[in-house]
Amino acid sequence: MCGIAGYVGPRNSVEVVFDQLKRLEYRGYDSAGIAYLNGQDIKVLKRAGKLSVLGALLEEAPPESHLAIAHSRWATHGPPTDINAHPHFDQFEQISIIHNGIIENYLDLKEELVRDGHVFHSETDTEVAAHVIGQEYARGVPLEEAVRVGVKRLRGAYALVVISKNEREKIVATRNASPLVIGLGEAENYLASDIPALLPYTRQVVVLEEDLIAVLTQDGIRIFDGQGNDQSIEPIHIEWDIAAAQKGGYEHFMLKEIHEQPEVIAQCLAGRIDEKQRIRFEQIFSEHVWHEVDRVNIIACGTAYHAGLMGKYLFEKLLRLPTDVFHSSEFRYGDPVLSPKSLAIFISQSGETADSLAALRVCKERRIRTLGIVNVIGSSIARECDRTIFTQAGPEISVASTKAYVAQVLVLTMLALSVAQVKEMPGVRVTECVHALRSLRERAQEALTLEPQVIELAKQFFDAPLFFFLGRGVDAHVALEAALKMKEIAYIPTQESPAGEMKHGPLALVEPGVVAVFGAAEASVREKLVSNIREVQARGGTVLAVTTRDDAIVPQATDACLAVPGTGFEVLDALLTVIPLQLLAYHVARLKGCDIDMPRNLAKSVTVE
Ligand code: AGP
Repeated sequence: MCGIAGYVGPRNSVEVVFDQLKRLEYRGYDSAGIAYLNGQDIKVLKRAGKLSVLGALLEEAPPESHLAIAHSRWATHGPPTDINAHPHFDQFEQISIIHNGIIENYLDLKEELVRDGHVFHSETDTEVAAHVIGQEYARGVPLEEAVRVGVKRLRGAYALVVISKNEREKIVATRNASPLVIGLGEAENYLASDIPALLPYTRQVVVLEEDLIAVLTQDGIRIFDGQGNDQSIEPIHIEWDIAAAQKGGYEHFMLKEIHEQPEVIAQCLAGRIDEKQRIRFEQIFSEHVWHEVDRVNIIACGTAYHAGLMGKYLFEKLLRLPTDVFHSSEFRYGDPVLSPKSLAIFISQSGETADSLAALRVCKERRIRTLGIVNVIGSSIARECDRTIFTQAGPEISVASTKAYVAQVLVLTMLALSVAQVKEMPGVRVTECVHALRSLRERAQEALTLEPQVIELAKQFFDAPLFFFLGRGVDAHVALEAALKMKEIAYIPTQESPAGEMKHGPLALVEPGVVAVFGAAEASVREKLVSNIREVQARGGTVLAVTTRDDAIVPQATDACLAVPGTGFEVLDALLTVIPLQLLAYHVARLKGCDIDMPRNLAKSVTVE
């Protein structure tokens, strides 16, 4: 996610906030900017690209200032350009604002403001928030009051930080579902989106709670709620070292990213389901295209390929649309047969995978419509596809993909449901499925509470010579992803297949010590699964099932069972089962002492063949 920094005090504020941004670089970003008070105005310096670009600007004219805010942006709305970089001004250039998160209703607000004569310069939701707060500020109220009232019109996840040219001693900040922390100094105070940016200056930290508003001055801070009631200030002393702080206190980025998944679900859904339960993607194909498309080809690698298999399940089950899923490396050399009316979907977290990019160019040469499902805005695949839906999962640092996979499957689910709405597909219970989508963040949070049980199972299984990952229907696709996690970070051989395939060969590998993990979210095939479980147990294998809490069949037959909450939509039930399986791979790898975030032989983005 983006980085936020702020400082007020006797030091050179621009130097401080620029240093803070550098300590947040690990989070990933594609533009950066600083707003500082100098003379009578607010000065803003901002550039696309890395901090070195902004740093060169600062060297040209080293500014003197005692109050500044700064931001490193990971583009979600609008590409990474100088104009879209933060900070942004309100319409009267009285205030300057930086923002993390997504304002879901920014388009409606923007239309209303444009009708009122507002002029916008960027494509960002942040500039709209600046104009909303600027509108309140123009009534002559204090900055913190303008923020308190203005944010009531915003919907979505945000951390907002605002300064004013007229109140030159204060920084105002507020948050909703996007973190903000305050650093307490001696006659100086700091602000950041993440603790690592505070540690070189102070270890006395106040975590700003949801929906509270903070006012920072050189002499102290004030925190109050949405009704203006002052709140107590309870600083905590941070013992972490910098490396630990960058992982949010988790031991590895992978574990942090697994635990980020509920927030990622919220970010991925943000602004895409309207009050009528209709799913909307910005700038995607117009509706007639979906009546024309006669086949879907999904092309991807690794984890993204596994997400593509979930897409196949969804498009064929909900839309009765024939769908093939290709490994990019096979597609690009396979001279595939492509219908002129087909749609090629490219799934890629990085948007730079060489095989997927080459496959995309094959489709463009053949004038096939292309749609990207990509995490990194501005990446090659995102730029070269006709249309792109961004997964909005935030930067994924760990080589092993977790939160990006969940976001990819979510986008595919929303895409299938949105097409079902357009085509008015009979028998598709879209409203119930959308309701299940809305409940997913909480359900994912519940699935994470299985971690203590998973840790105990990892202690039992971490020296297994071989893991089977098995399932039927949609669970067979999740099994492939769970197997990849175990392979790539715990280096344990795995055998993954549809459960019904066991007797056609893989069963020969079962012997005492082998662990077989069965996904059982799909209720209709649980009876069949039990016979596969018995086949494994009869040959000395140990069986772990991951199912939903309402499953009264499979748990009785297994040696161990992990139950996730049901959502009422089997694809999402199956998706939730991946969370304990990500944790299982993580804790097995941790017990084995593996280099979890940077596993041997692998790279985060395979930009070469
Ligand atoms: C998954 O954990 C791996 N990092 C790898 O399989 C990855 O999914 C694959 O290389 C595709 O990367 P992409 O999504 O960036 O295209």
